[in-house]
Amino acid sequence: MQAHVRIEQLLVELSARLSNSTTPPKLTQSIDYALFPGGARIRPRLVIAVSEAYSTDKRQSRTAINASAAAVEMMHCASLIQDDLKCFDDADSRRGKPALHTVWGAGNAILTADALIVGCFQILADEGIDSATSAALIRKLTRHTGSCGGITAGQAWEAETTIDLDAYHASKTGSLFAAATELAAISVGANPDDWSRLGLLIGSAYQIADDIRDTIGNTNDLGKPVGKDVELHRPNIVLQVGMNKAVARLKRLVEDVVESVPNCDNRFEFQKTVHQEANRFIPKEIDRYAA
Ligand code: IPE
Ligand code: IPE
Ligand code: MG
Ligand code: MG
Repeated sequence: MQAHVRIEQLLVELSARLSNSTTPPKLTQSIDYALFPGGARIRPRLVIAVSEAYSTDKRQSRTAINASAAAVEMMHCASLIQDDLKCFDDADSRRGKPALHTVWGAGNAILTADALIVGCFQILADEGIDSATSAALIRKLTRHTGSCGGITAGQAWEAETTIDLDAYHASKTGSLFAAATELAAISVGANPDDWSRLGLLIGSAYQIADDIRDTIGNTNDLGKPVGKDVELHRPNIVLQVGMNKAVARLKRLVEDVVESVPNCDNRFEFQKTVHQEANRFIPKEIDRYAA
């Protein structure tokens, strides 16, 4: 089965666990609004790709791999809901449709994010995953989403007067990519530490590409507002070092990403996949700028 089909199926199946007959109907609907239709789904794609870098016999725990893929995407969708709120980026569209809080209200948006965040851990605590693996997955996800270098810390840097751009990018974006590679490694019985650097590097490259789009992209193509970083004085690599240097940094990072793939059964194939994925998210317009 192709990865994108598998991801949509597992998200439908696992997100159904987040509501039952006692869940207020609006919350059930807003959870669905947050998850479908999706965006790039790059984080769950990364989970599946890392798992497929190992031989089939190591991929026995499909439940753990699927739970990891769903958890990182659900966490990501929760972070987008919060990011778009008036008190953060005040963005009124996301994935080509009205931002969740503009449809369901700020209160329900916060609760939808809560439900998704708690839901991630509920899914990783699945009884079908052996308890040692389940605990390791949960520990890693908390580490990458919390206040010590996780997404929470990343978003919280925006309230500070002095911000280190690399640390900001690493925690607001890199951390969840590291969660993707590390959770996948744990799911196949590999050492997650070997996969940490790769996740962080992909995350940095992804955020630089996003910073570039925020300065030269357009709302119609991206399905979300552009120019928010200038408007809100957010640290953005293009604003900090200029487009030429940002592009050079992005290209170098993509090379580092491919080089940093750790030893695994299907290393060469995985490197090819990483290269293809990078080409999907690198803005095409950058070829106009110096490398
Ligand atoms: C947006 O992430 C936020 C960033 C970290 C740049 P994505 O670009 O992956 O968002 P979707 O899931 O495709 O909408
Ligand atoms: C968002 O960063 C990172 C999150 C943790 C959600 P941005 O604010 O740059 O992402 P977009 O441009 O709104 O998608
Ligand atoms: Mg933001
Ligand atoms: Mg934003």
